[in-house]
Amino acid sequence: MNNVEEIVKQASEKIKTANSVESLESVKTEYLGKNGEITKLLKSMSDYSVEEKKKIGALLNSAKKEIDEEIIKRKGFLSSSEIEEKMKKEKIDFSSAFSFNFPKGHFHPISQTIEDISAIFKSLGFETAQGPEIETDWYNFEALNHPADHPARDIQDTFYLEGMKNLLRTHTSPGQIHVMENQQPPIKVIVPGRVYRNEASDASHSSTFHQIEGLSVDKNITFIDLKSALTLYARNFFGNDLETRFRPSYFPFTEPSAEMDVQCFFCKGKGCGVCKGTGWIEILGCGMVHHNVLKAVKYDSEKYTGFAFGIGVERIAMLKYGLDDIRLFYENDLRFLKQF
Ligand code: PHE
Repeated sequence: MNNVEEIVKQASEKIKTANSVESLESVKTEYLGKNGEITKLLKSMSDYSVEEKKKIGALLNSAKKEIDEEIIKRKGFLSSSEIEEKMKKEKIDFSSAFSFNFPKGHFHPISQTIEDISAIFKSLGFETAQGPEIETDWYNFEALNHPADHPARDIQDTFYLEGMKNLLRTHTSPGQIHVMENQQPPIKVIVPGRVYRNEASDASHSSTFHQIEGLSVDKNITFIDLKSALTLYARNFFGNDLETRFRPSYFPFTEPSAEMDVQCFFCKGKGCGVCKGTGWIEILGCGMVHHNVLKAVKYDSEKYTGFAFGIGVERIAMLKYGLDDIRLFYENDLRFLKQF
């Protein structure tokens, strides 16, 4: 009976190192089974006196209890980790069962181009505004200093709506008037949107297209501000390595007016089919806001000056993506759209 302690120690060592519920069962049999170590000792108690039996009985029972408890504890641990193990092995991957492979959409190349250009002007401090597509003569022409006999007013160029009172805006410039009628300088805003012209469509013309209008009005705005904002835009959009230039032009609502060119990004200015051998590509119209326009919105034209510009979105997108037919943008042919 002196080695009961030793037996319990051995048993607990075996319990700790048992790696499965099964091997734990055999440890149990080894000590507590019919012919187990502890059982054998219990059976041999008849050889002892009543006094001794009491002592030895208590000793063996607590040994039995200790081993039993340790086994139960270890069994709990092993069976939960065995379940875990089993779950890992038998895991079923349902993800493929639900993969219908929906095609992923994306922005239309025109929307994407508007977004890219807007982001550059946003970084230069311009906010974005919207204007209506149905306008009156005042917003589209009169407030923008168009003389009464200006050819753009002709029904040949403008879509008038029933009764001739309203028209579809022929440019985003009426957006300038709405902004200035509704707020005081300083103003720094872009107005992207759809415009309409009454003309036959071909590879480079469409009766519906998009423009981004720009307007900055404040005290002391000069042509330098126009040049620096638009040069920053062009460098950002077309590339830092390309030259830009301004050519004199005419718009009724700006004075002086200019058109801006960027060095052809296909041939880097050498002259190619895209730039028609000139080495330059026209990218926008611009100018200093005409004082008659400032007067039309009741701004003090002695106090404030401003610059404005208009970017043709399709033109820019065609150049950027190397397209030769504007109509591709409106046909919604997925074979075309999926390329962007
Ligand atoms: N509205 C002009 C056009 O449609 C572009 C423009 C806008 C020019 C602003 C100068 C200033 O051609």
